Amino acid sequence: MRPHLHHAHAEHVELESAFTVDASRVTFGPGSLREVGLRVARHLPDGGRVALFTDARLRRTEWYDDTMAALREQNLEVVVFDEVLVEPTDASMQAAVGFAREAKPDAFVSLGGGSVIDTAKLADLLSTHPGELIDYVNAPLGAATPVPGPLKPHVACPTTSGTGSEVTGIAIFDLVSAHAKTGVSSPLLRPTEAVVDPRTTASLPADVVASSGLDVLCHAVESLTARAYVGRPVASPVTARPASQGANPWSDLGARQAIELIGRYLRRAVADEHDEEARHQMMWAATLAGIAFGNAGVHVPHAMAYAVAGVLHDIGSDYRPAGYVGTESLVPHGFAVAVTAPAAFRALAPTTPFRHLEAARLLGGDTAGVGPREAGDVLAEAVGSLMHDVGAPNGIGGVGYTLDDVPALVAGAAPQRRLLDNAPSPVHEDELHAIFSDALRAW
Ligand SMILES: NC(=O)c1ccc[n+]([C@@H]2O[C@H](COP(=O)([O-])OP(=O)(O)OC[C@H]3O[C@@H](n4cnc5c(N)ncnc54)[C@H](O)[C@@H]3O)[C@@H](O)[C@H]2O)c1
Ligand SMILES: [Zn+2]
Repeated sequence: MRPHLHHAHAEHVELESAFTVDASRVTFGPGSLREVGLRVARHLPDGGRVALFTDARLRRTEWYDDTMAALREQNLEVVVFDEVLVEPTDASMQAAVGFAREAKPDAFVSLGGGSVIDTAKLADLLSTHPGELIDYVNAPLGAATPVPGPLKPHVACPTTSGTGSEVTGIAIFDLVSAHAKTGVSSPLLRPTEAVVDPRTTASLPADVVASSGLDVLCHAVESLTARAYVGRPVASPVTARPASQGANPWSDLGARQAIELIGRYLRRAVADEHDEEARHQMMWAATLAGIAFGNAGVHVPHAMAYAVAGVLHDIGSDYRPAGYVGTESLVPHGFAVAVTAPAAFRALAPTTPFRHLEAARLLGGDTAGVGPREAGDVLAEAVGSLMHDVGAPNGIGGVGYTLDDVPALVAGAAPQRRLLDNAPSPVHEDELHAIFSDALRAW
């Protein structure tokens, strides 16, 4: 017998009793970029043309040279797109799609952070299948048309210890006309393979390590504290489980290990670019947390981040960390997520106190003698102290917001139902208002 939940409108809602694990094939280790050519060639037995996606900064690195040499060794024709925008917009995605439609590649390789990998995913989608970007974008901003079938092979090579995009079916961008971040999500967007070479972290600017490391922390803590998969109404057909299926024994494994690694290594990885051990361990944490949230889903801090990043231009803030090239104001994704995380965890902890307490302990927080009622405060304190030590902005106030901006931020976050429904307890406009107000400062 499956458990049943009584609802006001439906008589009985059948609840889930199983979970599904999905992941790309992952190759992890120093030097693995040199395998990229062979790996792509296995998907193209008759040879062919490969589109290599990267950004202008990465094109000047040895990681790019290694990747290009590996592809050329297999006699693959390579066409390069290096105009990926850091934190992509609909316009930058369109430019990439235009390139791919013209070049007609047989396979894609992405070398870069989440910005590059997400751009390659959508270029692959829209040069393989008909339709326009907005058709596939998540509702309510887009039509949420299902991806019709498999894409061309895509080997994703992350160079930030962050998003986990190399193992997820998500691609995110800023829909400028709507002042909101949104995206496309489908298991079919998941790259065919991920090649994770932690050497690439050697050239990362410190604030990119900090921001992307806090993104990893939120992927892990949100996966661990998401609504349990058995609390979600069963999908129809049953095999159509969403990627945001809730916390499950598999995602818990990766989430726990990632939180522990972040507690041990993130400060060191930010402070010293030569600390190879710390930087490589952060790359492993990013991979683990990516697999975890790709199978559990994130929730409130990520939903709120869409608003934190999207509303920034409307308030005339000039916030932009030094390591992010460009001139326009920008809250990078990791910082956008982290600024509300302590307040969100404090608000949500009463529903799942032991999981919040466990996250605090794994992160290195002082949990000796702490009871479940203080779980939220202890986790908020551990996250806030880490943010402080790695140079993150101090809450939403730290990027320029005041209490007057809270209604606009709530309006930006409230439509993210897919994420908010994955929270451990219901979150609607009132709760969002309270969390944003509490998030003015993080420590
Ligand atoms: N698809 C997903 O599952 C997912 C999950 C979380 C976030 N995201 C998205 O990913 C994007 C953020 O990606 P990110 O945090 O990985 O950063 P990023 O790709 O935006 O890169 C940040 C900066 O670091 C530079 N850089 C990257 N790797 C480098 C290296 N090894 N050496 C030197 N410089 C390097 C880039 O050139 C850029 O200036 C956002 O758009 C976010 O919304 C996607
Ligand atoms: Zn994220």
